[in-house]
Amino acid sequence: MNYQKILDTIHSEMSYRDVGGKVASYIPELAKIDPRKFGMHLYCGENQHYGFGDSEEKFSIQSISKVFSLCMAMNIMGEDLWERVDVEPSGNPFNSLTQLEQENGIPRNPFINAGALVISDILVDHLENPKEELLSFVRQITGDADIEYDETVASSEKSTGFRNIALVNYMKALGNIKCEVEPIIDFYFHQCSLRMSCRQLAKAFMIFANKGKVLENGEKIMRPEIVKRINALMQTCGFYDEAGEFSFEVGLPGKSGVGGGIVAIHPERYSVAVWSPILNEKGNSELGMKALEKLTTLTGVSVF
Ligand code: DON
Repeated sequence: MNYQKILDTIHSEMSYRDVGGKVASYIPELAKIDPRKFGMHLYCGENQHYGFGDSEEKFSIQSISKVFSLCMAMNIMGEDLWERVDVEPSGNPFNSLTQLEQENGIPRNPFINAGALVISDILVDHLENPKEELLSFVRQITGDADIEYDETVASSEKSTGFRNIALVNYMKALGNIKCEVEPIIDFYFHQCSLRMSCRQLAKAFMIFANKGKVLENGEKIMRPEIVKRINALMQTCGFYDEAGEFSFEVGLPGKSGVGGGIVAIHPERYSVAVWSPILNEKGNSELGMKALEKLTTLTGVSVF
């Protein structure tokens, strides 16, 4: 498969001018991002990777980080994790509070904010220094030490993060949060502030295409049965109330973030990341979704 040629076609045929959404502004720091940014990178082997545009520029990965923290929580808790968080699509916006009341404080899945905050609680509870350990995990699976938190984005989100703070308090009232609110929120805002490029994200996500093996050195750091579960969750819950649409259009497991990034994988074939900061009304990158739809159309393969 000539992936570079396919990516070049996507680059030449698609542009930010084709979409009508807006850059995220509820986190003030994210509103400053240039809406014209567009990059894509695909890895299918250690020395086989292809990209275009702004694929080497780092951006705020936001909710894509929920996949990394879920990996760590699954490694710590095993199947007991599913007593604290469910595995069903929510059909609701990522920051919704409504289902929690009816469902006794058990979030629908680990990728909506409520679920990711329960995961944060677990990591804060079990790890000596959760922020450092998350950073080392992400660097390890990427095979790249050049990954950092963006303190400005983390404190910008903290200044407007009332819904997330409400979610943690509410779940604490319902008995599904163990630690204090502040360290959970601090960890969560930091994980969302991680800065990575499309190239780094595609490389990191090769563990989900490669049954848990780190691309850089072949080290197996996730058990295949855990990878199977994470890929299933990305397929069914990776795009909130647009998970069905993403499956329908693209046909790959994936995860988005309000920084405009999307990562998707084709098991045993490739991992691909795309970045365009203009979001649709569901909080997913509009051009990113279109570019991935084009990728699976031009390659003629998806998981379906
Ligand atoms: O908690 C928030 O609202 C953000 N830090 C992350 C949201 C996000 O990326 C949702 N994804 N599309």
